[in-house]
Amino acid sequence: MTVKPIVLQDLPPDLKRERLPKHVAVIMDGNGRWAKHRGLPRIMGHKRGVDVLKDLLRCCRDWGVAALTAYAFSTENWGRPLEEVDFLMTLFERVLRKELREMIEEDVRIQFVGNLSALPRSLQTEIARAVAETQHNRGIQLTVATNYGGRQEILDACRAIAHQVQQGLLQPDDIDEALFERHLYTAGIGDPDLLIRTSGEMRISNFLLWQMAYAEIYITETLWPDFDRAEFHRALCSYQQRERRFGKV
Ligand code: IPE
Ligand code: IPE
Ligand code: MG
Repeated sequence: MTVKPIVLQDLPPDLKRERLPKHVAVIMDGNGRWAKHRGLPRIMGHKRGVDVLKDLLRCCRDWGVAALTAYAFSTENWGRPLEEVDFLMTLFERVLRKELREMIEEDVRIQFVGNLSALPRSLQTEIARAVAETQHNRGIQLTVATNYGGRQEILDACRAIAHQVQQGLLQPDDIDEALFERHLYTAGIGDPDLLIRTSGEMRISNFLLWQMAYAEIYITETLWPDFDRAEFHRALCSYQQRERRFGKV
C-alpha cells in the first residue's frame, strides 16, 4: 500500500513551528456530560468522542506534532455501569477494525499502553493487528492508553525490576531513571510536552504519573465531543507563551 507523503499544512500563522510540542497527551473527558446536556445516553458522547480524536490526530499530523497520546480507558473506569464498559470495549474494537486501513495510508503508527491482557480477547486481537500492521509507519505516533493506570504502571515496573535483582541480573544501584523508564509501558514513547484535559477537571486521574513530571498543563472547560482545531490552536498558543524552566532559572 502506498503511504501518502506528509505535507505540513495550515499551521496557523501565529504558531511557531520550532516551538511546537513534540508530544501532546490528552485526557478526553466530558463525553457523558456532553450527551446528558443533549438528553442523549452517555454512550453517544463516547461515539462522538472518537470522531474528535480522529480529527485531532489529523490536525497533529497536518501541523507537525510528532506524537499524540490519548487516555481512552482508565483502570478505574471498570467501576462504571456494565453497559457503558461493554459499549466502550465494543466501540474500541469496531473503530480499530474500521480505521486500520486509513491509519496505514496516513502513515500512523499506533501503540497501546495499559494492562492489555485484561481486555476482551477480541479487542486484544484487533490491537495486536493494528500495532503489527502500523509498526513501521513514521508519519505520526498515536498511543492509546487503554486499561491504563499510572500507579499500576509504576508497580509493574517495580515488580519487573525486583525480579531481575532477585535473579542477580541487576544490582539495586543500577536502578536509575533511564532503567526505570525502560520498564514502563511507555518505554520508547517519551514524555509529553503538553497535557490537555477537557471538561474543566483540575486533576490527572492516574494518567502518566511518571511521564508528566515536566509536562505543561492546559485545561479547558470545553467538553471532549466539542473539542476542535480552534481549541487545540488555543492550547498550542498557551504552550508557546510559556517558559519551560525544568527547575532552572
Ligand atoms: C471520558 O468522558 C471518556 C471516558 C472516561 C471513557 P466521561 O465518560 O468521563 O464523561 P463525563 O466526565 O462523565 O462527562
Ligand atoms: C479520565 O476521566 C479517564 C479517561 C478520560 C479515559 P474520568 O472521567 O474517568 O476521570 P475522573 O473520574 O473525573 O477523575
Ligand atoms: Mg469523566
